[in-house]
Amino acid sequence: MNKGVIARYRGRLPVSDKTPVVTLCEGSTPLLRADLLAAAVGLREGSVYLKLEGMNPTGSFKDRGMTLAVSKALEEGSQGVVCASTGNTAASAAAYAARAGLRCIIFIPKAGVAVGKIAQALMHGSELVEVRGNFDKAMTVSLSRAAELGFTVVNSVNPYRIEGQKTAAFEVAEDLGAPPELLFLPVGNAGNITAYWKGFCELGGRRPRLMGYQAAGAAPLVLGRDVEDPKTVASAIRIGKPLSRAGALAARDQSAGLIDSVTDAEIIAAYRLLAKAEGVFCEPASAASVAGLLKCRREKVPLSGRIVCVLTGHGLKDPQTPMRFKYRPFKER
Ligand code: F0G
Repeated sequence: MNKGVIARYRGRLPVSDKTPVVTLCEGSTPLLRADLLAAAVGLREGSVYLKLEGMNPTGSFKDRGMTLAVSKALEEGSQGVVCASTGNTAASAAAYAARAGLRCIIFIPKAGVAVGKIAQALMHGSELVEVRGNFDKAMTVSLSRAAELGFTVVNSVNPYRIEGQKTAAFEVAEDLGAPPELLFLPVGNAGNITAYWKGFCELGGRRPRLMGYQAAGAAPLVLGRDVEDPKTVASAIRIGKPLSRAGALAARDQSAGLIDSVTDAEIIAAYRLLAKAEGVFCEPASAASVAGLLKCRREKVPLSGRIVCVLTGHGLKDPQTPMRFKYRPFKER
């Protein structure tokens, strides 16, 4: 039975017998073989896998870090948690705080948070503050309010978030029997790429090259400078000033990987391909990983060994984006 990431990886996480475990049985998500995608990038069957992080309790990878961050907040006697979010961190913080009986205050950008994520935050009883401006503004406001309130920040500046999220690397390596050669993932605030790298380093042995993808209109790590007005269809990664910049660049350099960008058109093409060809509905930001893999193929970047694309969040988080497309009506054939 899956009892959550703290139970599964207790020995590798900063917890003790005194830590009250707040879990929704996150983690242990599927690693799905994606043979049609493998064929699309010219690789043989069994070489491309999708890590389905949308199968976590609140529908995104954030739950891995949140179980630890909220458990530790409770252990340390915190009265509440605070975060800024493009939506998924908010949904996850709200759910775990509800379970822990803690107050949860969330700062979200006024425009552009997918509706499913707002529904989750509201249902779990968090106190939602809409900030006029983008995620980066919400982050600034959130950090100063948390300090005033004396509440715990549960963004990925909280080291327990990274500790919890590194467990995804352990699972990938266990499921494949060894780490993959390449691991593709979307990059926003850059906590997740930092966490995967930490996880693979702690495992020892051969480590994958980490291939991180930002949206072209929100690509500060590719451009090497902050982006004042980030724009992309992938609202989860609409971030111009990533907090974990240093961790992401270290992961890129130490793994001989890269951080590149993909356009909104490439993200949407990958999003639709995954749904139609592999039967996997992820949210647009998640498809940036697969868009990155397809871009590597087009640009003739050598691809070999086993490849994992991380799909960070569930498609149902954002039920509105699919409504923009045309679909084929029923026809007798
Ligand atoms: N994919 C999804 C679905 C996300 O929600 C996020 C980040 C990322 C990828 C990028 O991960 O920030 O660790 O580089 N969402 C944050 C939030 C910012 O507030 O939910 P990252």
